[in-house]
Amino acid sequence: MAAKRALITGVNGQDGSYLAELLLERGYEVHGVVRRDALEDPAHRLANIRGFQDRVQLHVGALDNPLSIYKIVSGVRPEECYHFASSSFVSYNFEDEASIVASNFTATHSLLSTLKELAPECRTYFAGSSEMFGSARAAPQNEATPFNPRSVYGISKLAAFHLARNYREHHKMFVAAGILYNHESPRRGYQFVTRKITSAVAKIKLGLARSVPLGNLDASRDWGYAPDYVRAMHAMLQRPAPADYVIATGVSRTVRQFLRTAFSVVGLDYEPYVTVDPSYFRPSEAVELRGDATLARKELGWAPSKTFEDLVAEMVESDLRALQNGRR
Ligand code: GDD
Repeated sequence: MAAKRALITGVNGQDGSYLAELLLERGYEVHGVVRRDALEDPAHRLANIRGFQDRVQLHVGALDNPLSIYKIVSGVRPEECYHFASSSFVSYNFEDEASIVASNFTATHSLLSTLKELAPECRTYFAGSSEMFGSARAAPQNEATPFNPRSVYGISKLAAFHLARNYREHHKMFVAAGILYNHESPRRGYQFVTRKITSAVAKIKLGLARSVPLGNLDASRDWGYAPDYVRAMHAMLQRPAPADYVIATGVSRTVRQFLRTAFSVVGLDYEPYVTVDPSYFRPSEAVELRGDATLARKELGWAPSKTFEDLVAEMVESDLRALQNGRR
């Protein structure tokens, strides 16, 4: 039987790279979209796919250029498409509004409308976010919880989520959306709080840094393990019918708990090494963002595989190894 063809936008990001590995293991022909500037700086921008880049067919494209997406989809004719390319940092800087809307909403529209024309049978995954719940009315949140986004990021993701639903309901395309809570790994970007902490812990342990500046230590998040979350995405596209699924661990922890756990991996107490910088503060949630993944457990047979402690230890140990090997 011919291998299934999958197209991944943002293949060099955390989720794109784990998903590409999973699909390769399962015998897929994997195509990935990357921006031209990633090819110009492969040591950094393609680091996540370094180990298997030769098995992924890379296509240069920009999702803000509908023609480039049209050409890629027309050449690949994917049977499954996973759409990750977007702006992923939750910024409260209103100067970023236009670019966030362009990368999260307009680019999703370009991709879906192109798939409708060229590959209407393609099964598509859209990456929604717990930020769509924003200032949530209740915890934990599930697929029936009302959305109440309060960042441009959350608003643009929610608008794209409604668009994805529309392509499913109106155009009868197979479009599934994950409502994903925070998911972390050694491939997480350095601007996110978990990686910021684990990379600082490694530097402090090796005497390369003295402290780490952070925002609100009492902010809490439902943190899971990224490779588990890409398994859920793949399972969504194997269902008889498309639907939306919350993917989360169901347990939330504070930044302070993350810090304590990360420093304990190297035998240190966090307190002397943390400074609080108000510029990192964001409006805090009155109701915590914590997900209820009951539907995914039932319909996808999905469950997280890693404990919080093991996730944190894996990230710290990976950052230590990278520094010791001169990679960072
Ligand atoms: N980034 C950052 N830096 N966050 C900090 C800091 C800091 O110095 N100090 C405290 N925090 C708090 C933030 O206020 C937030 O409550 C929490 O740490 C997590 O922040 P991030 O790691 O930046 O992630 P996020 O929750 O804003 O967004 C991530 O998860 C969403 C849900 O899955 C991103 O991956 C989004 O793309 C994703 O949609």
